[in-house]
Amino acid sequence: MTAESSQAHKTSLAVAVIGAGARSVIAHHVPEARPGSTIVAVVDNSAHGRERAKTLFPDATVYATLDELLAAGGVDAAIVTTPDHTHEDIAVALLEAGIAVYLEKPLAISLDGADRVLGAAAATGTPLYVGHNLRHAAVVRVMREVIERGEIGEVKAVWVRHFVGNGGDFYFKDWHADRSKTGTLLLQKASHDIDIVHYLASGFTRRVVGMGDLMVYGDITDRHERPGQTMTDWFSYDNWPPAAQTGLNPVVDVEDVSMMLMTLDNGVQASYQQCHFTPDYWRNYTVIGTEGRLENFGDTAGGVVRVWNRRHEWQENGDVEYPIDGVASGHEDADRVTMTEFLDHVLDGAPTIVSPIAAREAVAAGSLAAASLRAGSTPLTIPDLPPAVIDHFTARTTPAAPSATEAPAAATTLA
Ligand SMILES: NC(=O)c1ccc[n+]([C@@H]2O[C@H](COP(=O)([O-])OP(=O)(O)OC[C@H]3O[C@@H](n4cnc5c(N)ncnc54)[C@H](O)[C@@H]3O)[C@@H](O)[C@H]2O)c1
Repeated sequence: MTAESSQAHKTSLAVAVIGAGARSVIAHHVPEARPGSTIVAVVDNSAHGRERAKTLFPDATVYATLDELLAAGGVDAAIVTTPDHTHEDIAVALLEAGIAVYLEKPLAISLDGADRVLGAAAATGTPLYVGHNLRHAAVVRVMREVIERGEIGEVKAVWVRHFVGNGGDFYFKDWHADRSKTGTLLLQKASHDIDIVHYLASGFTRRVVGMGDLMVYGDITDRHERPGQTMTDWFSYDNWPPAAQTGLNPVVDVEDVSMMLMTLDNGVQASYQQCHFTPDYWRNYTVIGTEGRLENFGDTAGGVVRVWNRRHEWQENGDVEYPIDGVASGHEDADRVTMTEFLDHVLDGAPTIVSPIAAREAVAAGSLAAASLRAGSTPLTIPDLPPAVIDHFTARTTPAAPSATEAPAAATTLA
């Protein structure tokens, strides 16, 4: 019996968390997302992590290894929030054991690893969901709806600038800075935005070129391990300017500036720029179509998406302006929707906006862009997935959000 059929009769799930670090708190959404579902087990391979698990999930049984959890049984689904280089093996073991998987992004740190996870899900029929929560962020929903209403015509170009102002604290003080654990920040960080480029442009990257360098954090010699700590323990806006940061990870060999150019399978051209030492922290998208362009200013509540769709000289506010709702900072609202989508998918077979195929295509573009930038910006071509794997997942996801036909009442048409 496949995992899909074995869970078909259930109305709630017994859920495990693998990796009790900073991100594991998304599992707190489980009981509210699907009442009756509970966190029954936690696995963490560090003593500090197991102590954290007891505080974060006091009713759960805590294990030191995945094998112990699999031997004990009693789990329907698992939320994997371990470092990126462990995703592949943990996901494959869970899928083969028939345990539905919520896997944090990136799907894997190599294209081969991503394809291995998708292959295991297709072969076993066990549900796989990859946590690309940015698809459920209000800013992305507004941009996608503008495009679906045809307000900018047919999408031809997408340009993304990513100001990773918290970069030093988020990515250079632990395993994130180590290539052997992340591959590249074009996966760890950019996989979200590559996924959104694909989502907004309705295509997948097939040709990619990268450029980048380690420009600031590589020169900082004050480095040490941080046993027992997670990012919230050292995060501070007072850590400024970037060159004054202290306590970096002993290994720092990922780039702090990365740029990539993409040609998609439908001819759309896209660019993505990421810098980890800006003062401000937000993402800015420009989408240009045959009849207009959109751009977001701010990416949480209080921000706006502006649309220019008449011909004129520079006009700061655009022709139409849409407010961005949701949380004022971070992405807790998107996390809640994402967790609900996962549980509904496992229990009801509901189709998902988030897509494992798209998660693979984000890994493909990010990992090959990093290979390109480390090889003198050589252009690289992304191989296709086997048709059987594409068919397996296409039946389980929706390629598009429900189309919106009318502009929301909150839109402001500017003179
Ligand atoms: N979607 C998002 O918005 C978002 C946000 C933050 C983090 N993440 C993802 O969440 C994942 C975890 O990030 P984090 O910041 O919580 O990391 P973290 O370092 O704070 O926590 C990782 C935990 O996993 C444990 N661990 C490591 N290897 C393990 C193994 N083999 N088995 C069991 N436990 C193991 C560690 O001991 C630690 O407690 C990353 O893949 C990251 O990309 C996603």
